[in-house]
Amino acid sequence: MIKDPILVGKWSLKNRMVKAPIHSDTCWGGKMTEKTYTHYDERTQGGRFGLVVVEHCYIRSDGIASRTQMSISDDSDIEYHKRLVDLIHRNGSTAILQLNHAGCGALRKDTSQDSISASDVSVTCGWPASDPNPERPKPLTVDGIKALEEAYLKAAMRGMKAGYDGIDVHSAHGYLLNQFFSPLTNHRTDMYNGETLAGRIRIHLEIIMGIRQVIGDKPLLALRLGGCDYIKGGSTIDDAVFASLSFEKAGVDLIDISGGLCCFVRPGHPEPGYFGDVSEAVKKKVHIPVLLTGGVKTLSDAEDLLQAQKGDLIGVGRAITADPKWGIELATK
Ligand SMILES: Cc1cc2nc3c(=O)[nH]c(=O)nc-3n(C[C@H](O)[C@H](O)[C@H](O)COP(=O)(O)O)c2cc1C
Repeated sequence: MIKDPILVGKWSLKNRMVKAPIHSDTCWGGKMTEKTYTHYDERTQGGRFGLVVVEHCYIRSDGIASRTQMSISDDSDIEYHKRLVDLIHRNGSTAILQLNHAGCGALRKDTSQDSISASDVSVTCGWPASDPNPERPKPLTVDGIKALEEAYLKAAMRGMKAGYDGIDVHSAHGYLLNQFFSPLTNHRTDMYNGETLAGRIRIHLEIIMGIRQVIGDKPLLALRLGGCDYIKGGSTIDDAVFASLSFEKAGVDLIDISGGLCCFVRPGHPEPGYFGDVSEAVKKKVHIPVLLTGGVKTLSDAEDLLQAQKGDLIGVGRAITADPKWGIELATK
């Protein structure tokens, strides 16, 4: 039942409904504006969500996905996040922060910055890249990967300083970590190689273990996995199961299932829980909770997906963007 509490890592969440990370389009220069606080206040009032995942924030200035994206790339961002997390806590929900690097999909402020990816294959949200002659990204060197991992750890620490209850690492929708995960975009031949699944998730494991080490045992650590590309030659449900088992072993508390290079929608599948085949397969194997997002319009859609064992928690995105009062029936304050 949606109203049942659930233990995720060391956190007892009061219900199973999650506010999915949704870019609010309210920030400028990486900083939140009054519109950001109003946006989150309206959508979290009453503490109606067991968990709120704050939208993807860029961890480094070469990984910005859009001009109005939120930043966690600099210490000066911390005070803005403090105000946001205080607001969500005051409203009564647990809050975690999503970390992202857009990889070759990034808008580079400074054109001297390289477009980077796992290999020299271009991708945007949706496959193949919408630009017929896209700039070919530079494959990250091993030193470049180490520097990137360091940027993730610093961003996670900033999140902790701001007061978040945990971190969600974004590896979905064709962004950088997804570019490593999908065999369509990872053509490397080194230890982060695209030929083996162990190679494709090596960077994820290093980031997860690194974050766990710096944040400690208590904060909730989630990974948003674009589990399946639904594209010939792309990542598969079996890949998602193997990867999730490895992430669990590495210290993740919650597997957050979404789409891979197909982005957050699944063509030809408008039904609630359209990534339910992935989340169900993952849920059967892992011992940690699984979150399913995609296509949920009503609380009864969410209830049906829980009853059908498609996930342990259910996320909602576009429906609450459209209607800030969505799910108010779950309010406890
Ligand atoms: C405008 C918009 C912004 C989004 N921003 C993010 C984001 O910041 N991080 C993320 O992981 N997913 C993001 N998503 C995907 C959503 O979290 C969610 O997975 C997707 O909308 C499907 O769920 P829904 O059918 O409930 O909307 C975004 C989706 C939309 C439409």
